[in-house]
Amino acid sequence: MRILVVHGPNLQLLGKREPDIYGAKTLKQIDAEIRQRAKQLGVDVRTFQSNHEGEIVDKIGSTAGEYDAIIINPGAYTHTSIAIRDALAGTGIPAVEVHLSNTSAREEFRHRSLIAPVCKGTIAGFGSIGYVLALEALAKGE
Ligand code: DQA
Repeated sequence: MRILVVHGPNLQLLGKREPDIYGAKTLKQIDAEIRQRAKQLGVDVRTFQSNHEGEIVDKIGSTAGEYDAIIINPGAYTHTSIAIRDALAGTGIPAVEVHLSNTSAREEFRHRSLIAPVCKGTIAGFGSIGYVLALEALAKGE
């Protein structure tokens, strides 16, 4: 099984960015945790980060035939991007949406996700373990 993990805008700043909300781990540490669990599960995982909506759309659009599933934290694009939603719907590849913070418990503008309706499920509020939970769910065929 091949899984693509997509990290959206500002997530390259993890560790320094509002650690009280997003935790103290850097993106590098989180990616290492994902890779370690993927190895145990026998999953081939690739990670990708971009601050640019079009780059994320391009990446998702090139997944057909390359990946079996996508794990995506679209960052702030969660709440704004029809383009990323359409890209995910267009691939036909199952996706899981992950958020480090519990977006439902934060500002009202974070309550709505344009991405959630085209995903198999959403994991939010458990910090970086959310990526590992998504990986486990996909690896188990959930
Ligand atoms: C986030 C939540 C978003 O609302 C925010 O814009 C982010 C991070 C999260 O992982 O909790 O950049 O996706």
